[in-house]
Amino acid sequence: MKLKAEIQSEFGGLDAFVNNAVARPMKRYTDPLDCWKSSMDINASGMFDIVREMADLIEQKDGGSIVNIGSMQGMFGPDFSLYEGTEMDSPPDYHFHKGGMIALTKYLARKFGPKNIRVNCISPGGLYSGQDEAFVERYNKKVPLGRMAGHDDIKGVVVFLAAQASSYITGENILMDGGLHA
Ligand SMILES: NC(=O)c1ccc[n+]([C@@H]2O[C@H](COP(=O)([O-])OP(=O)(O)OC[C@H]3O[C@@H](n4cnc5c(N)ncnc54)[C@H](O)[C@@H]3O)[C@@H](O)[C@H]2O)c1
Repeated sequence: MKLKAEIQSEFGGLDAFVNNAVARPMKRYTDPLDCWKSSMDINASGMFDIVREMADLIEQKDGGSIVNIGSMQGMFGPDFSLYEGTEMDSPPDYHFHKGGMIALTKYLARKFGPKNIRVNCISPGGLYSGQDEAFVERYNKKVPLGRMAGHDDIKGVVVFLAAQASSYITGENILMDGGLHA
């Protein structure tokens, strides 16, 4: 893999890997099975491929941290009432992959603990990105903090899990949902 070779030659390994990418080929429950399959290719097979290769680079540095970005949708079923009257849906592949990510986090934490590699997951609630106004209004009313997450909300949690500040935490999943499930 080109990326792996470049990191290896430039930095001699990797200290931390944040596994953030996601593809959304499936938008709705009723979408064709091909959308599910494409999601499987990227969000399951591709995701595992990159994590395994990056873990290898972290091992070359005698340890470090992997931070998986999951979602509350991997922990809880969808609240369909939020989407009523909008074009939005909560596609099933997303729940499937984000739930699997939490399980994989625990698997990798056990596998790589002895190599001093910590593996944790962050499960954010909804991030604001210009969604349908009706959805946002309904969502905000349900959240104790009264708003959707912003991009800045996740940075501190990522830094915490990537750094030595969390040196004895591994296999953990941190729900970051503004209190929605409190
Ligand atoms: N948006 C939300 O409300 C929300 C809520 C909870 C969790 N999350 C999680 O936060 C993370 C970021 O979400 P977002 O909303 O910014 O997503 P996004 O769709 O805006 O961005 C995802 C990024 O992944 C990249 N990507 C997709 N397929 C790729 C591939 N095969 N290889 C490399 N890169 C690829 C895309 O180019 C894009 O830059 C995701 O893991 C998502 O599941 C998002």
